[in-house]
Amino acid sequence: MTAMTFEWMGQNIPFRAGESVAAALDAAGIRSFGHDTLGQETRYFCGIGACQCCIMRIDGTVREACITPAKVGMRVEPMENRHG
Ligand code: FES
Repeated sequence: MTAMTFEWMGQNIPFRAGESVAAALDAAGIRSFGHDTLGQETRYFCGIGACQCCIMRIDGTVREACITPAKVGMRVEPMENRHG
């Protein structure tokens, strides 16, 4: 069986059906999702779409990774200086 994956920084990240992008990244050991304008790391925090800590670019659209279901072949990129 072929694993379901999406792309993150040139890596194929595996995920299970129904898993969010943030959960899959966390399970793959990826803790830093980018940096805000203060240089602080953005990351998986609340897990419910409330804190905006996991904002990233997903298939060209800015979204909260914790409430975005992972899909095969999607392209996920870190947000840098998202408030700038
Ligand atoms: S971790 Fe808080 S909005 Fe995603």
